[in-house]
Amino acid sequence: MSIDWFVIQNYYGQIAHLYDNTRPLPPEVSAKICNCILKLVKATPETKFLEPGIGTGRIGFPIIKQGYDYTGIDISEAMMNQLRGKFSEMPENLTLIQGDAANLPFADNSFDAILTTHILHCIDDPLVGLTEIKRVLKPNGVYLSCEHLHCSYQEEFFQAFNKIIAKYRETSQHKKEKISPFGEEMQQKLVEMGAEVEKVTAARWQQSQTVGELFNMYRSRAFGVCWLIEEDEFNQAIQEFKNWCDNTYKSEGIILTDELIFNITVARNWN
Ligand SMILES: C[S@@+](CC[C@H](N)C(=O)[O-])C[C@H]1O[C@@H](n2cnc3c(N)ncnc32)[C@H](O)[C@@H]1O
Repeated sequence: MSIDWFVIQNYYGQIAHLYDNTRPLPPEVSAKICNCILKLVKATPETKFLEPGIGTGRIGFPIIKQGYDYTGIDISEAMMNQLRGKFSEMPENLTLIQGDAANLPFADNSFDAILTTHILHCIDDPLVGLTEIKRVLKPNGVYLSCEHLHCSYQEEFFQAFNKIIAKYRETSQHKKEKISPFGEEMQQKLVEMGAEVEKVTAARWQQSQTVGELFNMYRSRAFGVCWLIEEDEFNQAIQEFKNWCDNTYKSEGIILTDELIFNITVARNWN
């Protein structure tokens, strides 16, 4: 097996109920992203979608609501249960499977459109994930690699927290974070693998949060970075992080506002 199922399932099992708050999508932004995806894949009533690492269905939900044939695969039932809970009745056009994106349980050339958001870095070898996507995508199919980027204040919090936990991580026995070989290089990887690639901005919107709200997300260990150290170390780190917040912003009530961006790397004619 290519992944540590227990570590990932355990992690997502603990944060599934908080997950959507870590990357909120206001309904109008979600609708805009949905329309952009449907246009990019030239969706028809026959279009069959696949989303490896579907999680809570943050991206797929409005597409499913429109009745498209949608299959999601994820190793965390807890994450998919959040998606199930968004419907009063399970839609007939939605299939959810617990499984591994590095070993997709589908025949070659099965889907017209495949999308992923923040999942390939979870796979031991993300290239295996991409190769699987290419295998199950129909020859004229479209692959969309989506990215919901951090804004500047989120990045500032993330960097400050990372700096604090660095000293604990030097000695920690905890599983080391994997560095994604993709990120900026996704476009190049897809070209090397034979795809025609285009980068599209699907949505830009303003987001506001108070310092206290963002700090509390860290305190409740909602982000992956909070699980890179043991619990005792985390309790010390979060106190240091509280001091950093107080020194930097003076009040938990300060409102932080910035623009968020949702980008899609589109791969077509992949052969
Ligand atoms: C960061 S979350 C992203 C969820 C969703 N795509 C989104 O953007 O809201 C990563 C998701 O990938 C799932 N995951 C991680 N490794 C996986 C694997 N090898 N196969 C399938 N799902 C996996 C996790 O359980 C989690 O639901």
